[in-house]
Amino acid sequence: MCGIVGYIGDRPVADILIDGLHQLEYRGYDSAGIAVKCEDKLHIYKAEGKLDNLSSVLMQHKSEYQNATMGIGHIRWATHGAPTVVNAHPHTCNCGNLAIVHNGIIENYKELREKLEKQGAIFRTQTDTETVAHLIAYKYAETKDLTKAVQLATKEIEGAYALCVIHNEEKDKIVATKRNAPLLVGIGEGEYFVASDVPAIIKYTKKAVYLEDNQIVTLTKNNIVLTDECGQELFLKIETLPWEPVALSKMGYKHFMLKEIHEQPDVIRNILVGKIHTSEEPIILNEVKLTNDTLKNLNRIQIIACGTSLHAAMIGKYIIENFCGIAVDVEASSEYIYRKNVTDSKTLVIGVSQSGETADTLTAIKQAKAKGSHILIITNRPDSAMAREADSLIPVSAGIEVSVAATKSYVAQLVSFYLLAMYMAEIKGSLDESVLTSLKSDLTKIPQKIEQMLSHKEQIQSCARLYANTKDFIYIARGINYPTALEGALKLKEISYINATGYPAGELKHGPIAMLDESMPVLSILMKGSVYEKLLSNSEEAKARNARMIALTNSKDEKLKDLFEYIIEVPDVQELLSPIIAIVPLQLIAYYIAEYLGKDVDQPRNLAKSVTVE
Ligand code: M6R
Repeated sequence: MCGIVGYIGDRPVADILIDGLHQLEYRGYDSAGIAVKCEDKLHIYKAEGKLDNLSSVLMQHKSEYQNATMGIGHIRWATHGAPTVVNAHPHTCNCGNLAIVHNGIIENYKELREKLEKQGAIFRTQTDTETVAHLIAYKYAETKDLTKAVQLATKEIEGAYALCVIHNEEKDKIVATKRNAPLLVGIGEGEYFVASDVPAIIKYTKKAVYLEDNQIVTLTKNNIVLTDECGQELFLKIETLPWEPVALSKMGYKHFMLKEIHEQPDVIRNILVGKIHTSEEPIILNEVKLTNDTLKNLNRIQIIACGTSLHAAMIGKYIIENFCGIAVDVEASSEYIYRKNVTDSKTLVIGVSQSGETADTLTAIKQAKAKGSHILIITNRPDSAMAREADSLIPVSAGIEVSVAATKSYVAQLVSFYLLAMYMAEIKGSLDESVLTSLKSDLTKIPQKIEQMLSHKEQIQSCARLYANTKDFIYIARGINYPTALEGALKLKEISYINATGYPAGELKHGPIAMLDESMPVLSILMKGSVYEKLLSNSEEAKARNARMIALTNSKDEKLKDLFEYIIEVPDVQELLSPIIAIVPLQLIAYYIAEYLGKDVDQPRNLAKSVTVE
């Protein structure tokens, strides 16, 4: 999605803006632009496509902006209006004295636009953002005070926004504000940074202030003033950012995605530290703030999430129901928010999100919170908006994930669900001691098994090459690995653009089997356990329609050799834990196919890392 960077200080601003925007690239975007102030003039540069195009534009105008030390920049993921130069941010008012960058969506932009046009504003773009540029400009004309103008304008705006504004007539000053979209200010020595996410500024400072909704910050080179929506000055809560710049390096891997796949064993180890001491001792999960009595009496849980997090949630449902005997509903956040749902104060609502900023999930969580539910958030961003809504917060601690395709954050979400389900089962006494002991013991062995698999990744690379030229791909599984099939298919779709679909294998015969012929690869996630034989039969049915059969299995069954043209072997693991192992080869298949096809693995077209619009 869109990204914002702003800077005021003594350094050449264009370099800082471009560098900061590069750090936000992973969020996904389709145009970019910056506005800088130099010798009492605003200069605006924009380009379609990647930042390299913007850099080329900048090269041609270097003499205009090389002394500039304040400005704002933006990468845009188009929502209102095509990804063209005209629609790229920053946007200006008619006189060109004001420039603005914006993340989010202005919901009442049509009404505002009509009103502003009547007042004489001439619109040049199809964007919702341009309305805000005109609106603030009108307020500035009345007040001659940029902070006040922003304060007045935001009273008329509906929707979600993070805004950064500069004005030519103001002595060097950046004004920024937000509602339902993230924004933080980085504090340096005689310089300030504004950004929609930490990576843009972490290289320069670790001291930051996170803006809360409706707060307005005014930055000059040597001063920062934070006010509320009424202009009341507020105390600055300065936080230390728990990030290391090194996290943003590929560390020798060709892509971030490959690096992040390889980080999974350590991610799991880190999560387990302090939670499982020995397999005989109880799980420690102090993050859960529900009392034991409440946990014992819970009879309903709802889990809300999107995309990959939704798949983790589906596995969460499976294991919580299995371990704890509590009914769990899982729903896509975007569906949950637009129906009459029956969440109440007795329901535990779990929100799952890598970014903690996904608009659909955030809205759903707020709805559930308003109904009095206890909100438990599982996220990789303990500094996110969703985390701030949490009554209980389980940070999955996967470290920053740069590749748009989620991998290590998914595995981290799964492990968090296992810990939560076992923790609840221990309190409820709903699972045999021996089962719990074996689950804990086997969970701690999984990182080593993934490492073992990664050391033989060539077999997966060869498999990927064999099927890379297919137009379609089907993944089948049953039981606990049905969501693994969905997630494997999503990974392939996202980064290779191959039409991949996951099915519960029992459903094949109810329709999808019609698509099978000798050109269709069907990958069967055939892990030993309760549904192994059934899935084998479903695979036979697919083979009988000449499909190109691939097995992902921990079975040594000789008869598989006749049924499957390619067998990917994975280390042995008990069925209940198998989703953590089974997803890794599927991530690698998607990766190697996309890499072989020459796709932009880390920044696939049309996708964004953090989807902050509904
Ligand atoms: O940040 P979230 O986990 O809430 O994001 C949800 C989805 O947008 C996300 O999982 C998306 O599907 C990813 N591109 C998956 O790789």
